[in-house]
Amino acid sequence: MIIAIDGPAAAGKGTLAKRLAKELGYAYLDTGALYRAVGLAALKAGVDPKDNAFAEAASADLDLSLLEAPELRHEATGTAASHVAAMPVVRSNLLNFQRNYASNPPGGVEGAVLDGRDIGTVVCPDADLKLFVTASAEERARRRTAEQESRGEVADFEAILADVKARDERDMNRAEAPLKPAEDALLLDTTLLDIDAVFQRAVAVVRER
Ligand code: DC
Repeated sequence: MIIAIDGPAAAGKGTLAKRLAKELGYAYLDTGALYRAVGLAALKAGVDPKDNAFAEAASADLDLSLLEAPELRHEATGTAASHVAAMPVVRSNLLNFQRNYASNPPGGVEGAVLDGRDIGTVVCPDADLKLFVTASAEERARRRTAEQESRGEVADFEAILADVKARDERDMNRAEAPLKPAEDALLLDTTLLDIDAVFQRAVAVVRER
């Protein structure tokens, strides 16, 4: 069983995907982390993330140790990831890894949950279940702000909101594999639902299938 979860930044899809995978005993792949690793490789090398040649090489020979780097979750890495993710060559370099993971999940488990932007539309168009998780930009920025403050960082809501909107704009309007719900995806708006309610709803749908 393959479960595809897509949606914009900070909509809660990662939390939902992890919980679902745990509940079902499935493997979980955060595909955004792969794009983040490519973006981080550029930042660490002091190269502009918009540099095509660098991103092409970094995605062709991905340094998996970057997936463990503390900077992977930084806001700047997310922005860099969004830039490299607009490059078709980067997307095609990362495609096989994602498809292999979905069809042969590690540990011989019976299924995989993948989250990202194009899982239901491009990576796994035949997924058994597709969820599209969204929330308003303001709500997502509010969550990001709270997350950063809980880590003891100083967070600027307006700056985070601007970043969320800029990232949506890039992710939704790129030519290659733009962020959009698959036609057969179930939409879950988390603006007013808490994560438990979203999780219960998703589990109920999985059990139905
Ligand atoms: O989900 P995230 O914030 O970790 O993703 C970082 C960036 O990677 C996001 O802005 C767009 C890109 N991405 C993508 O284009 N396709 C995916 N399947 C996952 C992420």
